[in-house]
Amino acid sequence: MGVFITFEGPEGSGKSTQARLLYERLQATGYPVILTREPGGTRIGEMIRRIVMDLRHTEMAPTTETLLFSAARAQLVSELVRPYLNTGGIVLCDRYADSTFAYQGYGLGRDLDELQAITAVATGGLMPDLTFYLDLDVEAGLRRKQAARERADTVGAGSAQRPEWNRLDARDLAYHQRVAAGFAELMRRDPARWRRLPAEQPVSELAEQIYHEVEPLLRRVALLGSQG
Ligand SMILES: Nc1ncnc2c1ncn2[C@@H]1O[C@H](COP(=O)(O)OP(=O)(O)OP(=O)(O)O)[C@@H](O)[C@H]1O
Ligand SMILES: [Mg+2]
Repeated sequence: MGVFITFEGPEGSGKSTQARLLYERLQATGYPVILTREPGGTRIGEMIRRIVMDLRHTEMAPTTETLLFSAARAQLVSELVRPYLNTGGIVLCDRYADSTFAYQGYGLGRDLDELQAITAVATGGLMPDLTFYLDLDVEAGLRRKQAARERADTVGAGSAQRPEWNRLDARDLAYHQRVAAGFAELMRRDPARWRRLPAEQPVSELAEQIYHEVEPLLRRVALLGSQG
Protein backbone atom coordinates (compact mmCIF):
# COMPACT_ATOMS: atom_id res chain seq x y z
CA MET A 1 0.00 0.00 0.00
CA GLY A 2 1.25 3.47 -0.88
CA VAL A 3 0.67 6.73 0.97
CA PHE A 4 -2.56 8.69 0.94
CA ILE A 5 -2.36 12.39 1.90
CA THR A 6 -5.23 14.87 1.90
CA PHE A 7 -5.52 18.65 2.27
CA GLU A 8 -8.38 20.27 4.16
CA GLY A 9 -9.22 23.70 5.43
CA PRO A 10 -11.51 26.64 4.82
CA GLU A 11 -11.98 28.42 1.48
CA GLY A 12 -8.87 30.13 0.18
CA SER A 13 -6.53 28.68 2.81
CA GLY A 14 -3.99 27.52 0.22
CA LYS A 15 -4.91 23.84 -0.17
CA SER A 16 -4.55 23.74 -3.95
CA THR A 17 -1.34 25.80 -3.84
CA GLN A 18 0.28 23.51 -1.28
CA ALA A 19 -0.98 20.27 -2.80
CA ARG A 20 0.58 21.30 -6.12
CA LEU A 21 3.91 22.30 -4.55
CA LEU A 22 4.13 19.00 -2.68
CA TYR A 23 3.23 17.12 -5.87
CA GLU A 24 5.94 18.93 -7.85
CA ARG A 25 8.59 18.32 -5.20
CA LEU A 26 7.81 14.62 -4.85
CA GLN A 27 7.71 14.18 -8.59
CA ALA A 28 11.02 16.00 -9.05
CA THR A 29 12.60 13.73 -6.44
CA GLY A 30 11.45 10.70 -8.41
CA TYR A 31 8.54 9.44 -6.36
CA PRO A 32 5.50 7.88 -8.01
CA VAL A 33 2.82 10.44 -7.16
CA ILE A 34 -0.53 11.69 -8.42
CA LEU A 35 -2.47 14.81 -7.50
CA THR A 36 -6.25 14.85 -7.59
CA ARG A 37 -9.14 16.78 -6.12
CA GLU A 38 -12.65 16.50 -4.73
CA PRO A 39 -15.23 16.68 -5.97
CA GLY A 40 -13.74 15.67 -9.29
CA GLY A 41 -10.54 13.96 -10.30
CA THR A 42 -12.27 11.62 -12.73
CA ARG A 43 -14.32 12.26 -15.85
CA ILE A 44 -17.51 11.35 -14.04
CA GLY A 45 -16.48 13.16 -10.86
CA GLU A 46 -15.77 16.41 -12.73
CA MET A 47 -19.27 16.24 -14.24
CA ILE A 48 -20.73 15.78 -10.77
CA ARG A 49 -18.59 18.73 -9.60
CA ARG A 50 -20.22 20.99 -12.15
CA ILE A 51 -23.68 20.01 -10.92
CA VAL A 52 -22.91 20.33 -7.23
CA MET A 53 -20.97 23.62 -7.44
CA ASP A 54 -23.28 25.44 -9.88
CA LEU A 55 -24.52 28.71 -8.33
CA ARG A 56 -27.83 28.34 -10.17
CA HIS A 57 -28.70 25.11 -8.33
CA THR A 58 -30.25 26.92 -5.36
CA GLU A 59 -32.95 24.25 -4.99
CA MET A 60 -30.50 21.41 -4.27
CA ALA A 61 -31.59 19.45 -1.19
CA PRO A 62 -28.92 18.74 1.46
CA THR A 63 -29.36 14.99 0.93
CA THR A 64 -28.80 15.39 -2.81
CA GLU A 65 -25.70 17.46 -2.13
CA THR A 66 -24.35 14.85 0.27
CA LEU A 67 -24.98 11.97 -2.11
CA LEU A 68 -23.46 13.79 -5.09
CA PHE A 69 -20.24 14.50 -3.18
CA SER A 70 -20.23 10.88 -2.06
CA ALA A 71 -20.89 9.59 -5.58
CA ALA A 72 -17.95 11.60 -6.92
CA ARG A 73 -15.82 10.25 -4.06
CA ALA A 74 -16.84 6.65 -4.78
CA GLN A 75 -15.76 7.05 -8.40
CA LEU A 76 -12.46 8.67 -7.41
CA VAL A 77 -11.59 5.98 -4.89
CA SER A 78 -12.42 3.08 -7.18
CA GLU A 79 -11.07 4.51 -10.43
CA LEU A 80 -7.94 6.30 -9.21
CA VAL A 81 -7.03 6.29 -5.53
CA ARG A 82 -7.16 2.60 -4.64
CA PRO A 83 -5.53 1.36 -7.84
CA TYR A 84 -2.66 3.85 -7.45
CA LEU A 85 -2.15 3.07 -3.75
CA ASN A 86 -2.07 -0.61 -4.68
CA THR A 87 0.90 0.05 -6.96
CA GLY A 88 2.72 1.56 -3.96
CA GLY A 89 2.42 5.18 -5.10
CA ILE A 90 1.58 8.41 -3.31
CA VAL A 91 -1.87 9.96 -3.77
CA LEU A 92 -2.38 13.63 -2.90
CA CYS A 93 -5.99 14.74 -2.74
CA ASP A 94 -7.26 18.32 -2.46
CA ARG A 95 -10.16 17.71 -0.01
CA TYR A 96 -11.67 14.32 0.89
CA ALA A 97 -14.23 12.77 3.24
CA ASP A 98 -13.46 15.14 6.12
CA SER A 99 -14.97 17.92 4.03
CA THR A 100 -18.28 16.04 3.97
CA PHE A 101 -18.35 15.89 7.77
CA ALA A 102 -17.40 19.57 8.03
CA TYR A 103 -19.58 21.03 5.22
CA GLN A 104 -22.64 18.79 5.16
CA GLY A 105 -22.40 17.62 8.79
CA TYR A 106 -21.39 20.58 10.93
CA GLY A 107 -22.22 23.16 8.25
CA LEU A 108 -25.65 21.96 7.08
CA GLY A 109 -26.54 20.00 10.21
CA ARG A 110 -26.75 16.56 8.62
CA ASP A 111 -26.59 13.64 11.05
CA LEU A 112 -22.95 12.62 11.54
CA ASP A 113 -23.63 8.90 11.98
CA GLU A 114 -25.58 8.89 8.74
CA LEU A 115 -22.70 10.65 6.98
CA GLN A 116 -20.33 8.09 8.45
CA ALA A 117 -22.39 5.27 6.95
CA ILE A 118 -22.64 6.95 3.53
CA THR A 119 -18.91 7.69 3.56
CA ALA A 120 -18.04 4.12 4.45
CA VAL A 121 -20.03 2.94 1.42
CA ALA A 122 -18.43 5.54 -0.87
CA THR A 123 -14.84 4.92 0.21
CA GLY A 124 -14.96 1.29 1.31
CA GLY A 125 -13.42 2.61 4.53
CA LEU A 126 -10.34 4.12 2.90
CA MET A 127 -9.00 6.96 5.05
CA PRO A 128 -5.87 9.07 4.53
CA ASP A 129 -2.57 8.28 6.24
CA LEU A 130 -2.07 11.99 6.83
CA THR A 131 -4.33 15.04 6.54
CA PHE A 132 -3.13 18.63 6.51
CA TYR A 133 -5.39 21.31 7.90
CA LEU A 134 -4.41 24.70 6.59
CA ASP A 135 -5.62 26.87 9.38
CA LEU A 136 -6.82 30.28 8.29
CA ASP A 137 -9.45 32.64 9.62
CA VAL A 138 -12.61 32.11 7.56
CA GLU A 139 -12.94 35.77 6.57
CA ALA A 140 -9.26 36.01 5.61
CA GLY A 141 -9.67 33.00 3.32
CA LEU A 142 -12.77 34.39 1.63
CA ARG A 143 -10.91 37.71 1.15
CA ARG A 144 -7.97 35.90 -0.45
CA LYS A 145 -10.32 34.25 -2.90
CA GLN A 146 -12.07 37.49 -3.79
CA ALA A 147 -8.70 39.22 -4.25
CA ALA A 148 -7.54 36.45 -6.57
CA ARG A 149 -10.69 36.85 -8.66
CA GLU A 150 -10.26 40.61 -8.87
CA ARG A 151 -6.62 40.18 -9.94
CA ALA A 152 -7.72 37.77 -12.66
CA ASP A 153 -10.32 40.29 -13.86
CA THR A 154 -7.76 43.12 -13.92
CA VAL A 155 -5.36 41.21 -16.13
CA GLY A 156 -8.25 39.98 -18.28
CA ALA A 157 -7.56 36.33 -17.53
CA GLY A 158 -9.83 33.79 -19.19
CA SER A 159 -12.50 32.04 -17.13
CA ALA A 160 -10.25 28.95 -16.81
CA GLN A 161 -7.68 31.03 -14.88
CA ARG A 162 -10.26 32.87 -12.81
CA PRO A 163 -10.62 31.19 -9.40
CA GLU A 164 -14.04 29.65 -9.04
CA TRP A 165 -16.74 31.10 -6.77
CA ASN A 166 -19.15 28.24 -6.22
CA ARG A 167 -22.44 27.40 -4.53
CA LEU A 168 -20.70 26.44 -1.28
CA ASP A 169 -18.40 29.50 -1.22
CA ALA A 170 -21.49 31.67 -1.55
CA ARG A 171 -23.02 30.47 1.74
CA ASP A 172 -23.06 32.98 4.59
CA LEU A 173 -20.28 33.62 7.06
CA ALA A 174 -22.07 31.77 9.89
CA TYR A 175 -22.10 28.64 7.70
CA HIS A 176 -18.35 28.89 7.07
CA GLN A 177 -17.74 29.43 10.80
CA ARG A 178 -19.68 26.23 11.59
CA VAL A 179 -17.57 24.39 9.01
CA ALA A 180 -14.36 25.63 10.65
CA ALA A 181 -15.62 24.63 14.11
CA GLY A 182 -16.51 21.24 12.62
CA PHE A 183 -12.98 20.74 11.34
CA ALA A 184 -11.67 21.62 14.81
CA GLU A 185 -13.90 18.90 16.29
CA LEU A 186 -12.77 16.35 13.68
CA MET A 187 -9.14 17.09 14.57
CA ARG A 188 -9.87 16.64 18.26
CA ARG A 189 -11.39 13.23 17.56
CA ASP A 190 -8.50 11.88 15.51
CA PRO A 191 -5.36 13.88 16.38
CA ALA A 192 -2.86 11.29 15.11
CA ARG A 193 -3.93 11.67 11.48
CA TRP A 194 -4.09 15.48 11.35
CA ARG A 195 -1.36 18.12 10.99
CA ARG A 196 -2.76 21.55 11.69
CA LEU A 197 -0.54 24.26 10.24
CA PRO A 198 -1.00 28.03 10.36
CA ALA A 199 -1.78 29.10 6.80
CA GLU A 200 -1.04 32.78 7.28
CA GLN A 201 2.65 32.48 6.46
CA PRO A 202 4.63 32.61 3.23
CA VAL A 203 3.78 29.88 0.73
CA SER A 204 7.35 28.53 0.70
CA GLU A 205 7.57 28.24 4.50
CA LEU A 206 4.31 26.38 4.68
CA ALA A 207 5.52 24.08 1.90
CA GLU A 208 8.67 23.29 3.92
CA GLN A 209 6.64 22.40 7.01
CA ILE A 210 4.40 20.16 4.94
CA TYR A 211 7.34 18.36 3.36
CA HIS A 212 8.89 17.86 6.79
CA GLU A 213 5.70 16.10 7.96
CA VAL A 214 5.51 13.96 4.82
CA GLU A 215 9.13 12.78 4.85
CA PRO A 216 8.75 10.01 7.47
CA LEU A 217 6.06 8.34 5.32
CA LEU A 218 8.27 8.30 2.23
CA ARG A 219 10.31 5.38 3.55
CA ARG A 220 7.38 3.20 2.48
CA VAL A 221 7.62 4.35 -1.13
CA ALA A 222 10.16 3.13 -3.70
CA LEU A 223 11.61 5.76 -6.05
CA LEU A 224 10.70 5.32 -9.70
CA GLY A 225 13.27 3.29 -11.54
CA SER A 226 14.73 1.79 -8.35
CA GLN A 227 14.61 -1.94 -7.66
CA GLY A 228 11.90 -2.36 -5.09
N1 LIG B 1 0.44 31.28 2.16
C1 LIG B 1 -0.25 32.16 1.41
N2 LIG B 1 -0.22 33.47 1.68
C2 LIG B 1 -0.93 34.35 0.95
N3 LIG B 1 -1.70 34.02 -0.09
C3 LIG B 1 -1.80 32.71 -0.41
C4 LIG B 1 -1.07 31.71 0.33
N4 LIG B 1 -1.36 30.50 -0.21
C5 LIG B 1 -2.21 30.73 -1.22
N5 LIG B 1 -2.47 32.06 -1.36
C6 LIG B 1 -3.36 32.71 -2.33
O1 LIG B 1 -4.68 32.58 -1.83
C7 LIG B 1 -5.59 32.25 -2.88
C8 LIG B 1 -6.23 30.91 -2.58
O2 LIG B 1 -5.24 29.88 -2.64
P1 LIG B 1 -5.63 28.40 -3.06
O3 LIG B 1 -6.45 28.42 -4.29
O4 LIG B 1 -4.39 27.58 -3.04
O5 LIG B 1 -6.54 28.02 -1.80
P2 LIG B 1 -7.59 26.85 -1.66
O6 LIG B 1 -7.58 26.50 -0.23
O7 LIG B 1 -7.29 25.79 -2.64
O8 LIG B 1 -8.93 27.60 -2.04
P3 LIG B 1 -10.34 26.98 -2.48
O9 LIG B 1 -11.09 26.89 -1.21
O10 LIG B 1 -10.87 27.99 -3.42
O11 LIG B 1 -10.10 25.67 -3.13
C9 LIG B 1 -4.76 32.25 -4.16
O12 LIG B 1 -4.87 33.50 -4.76
C10 LIG B 1 -3.35 31.99 -3.67
O13 LIG B 1 -2.40 32.54 -4.54
MG1 LIG C 1 -8.53 24.89 -4.04
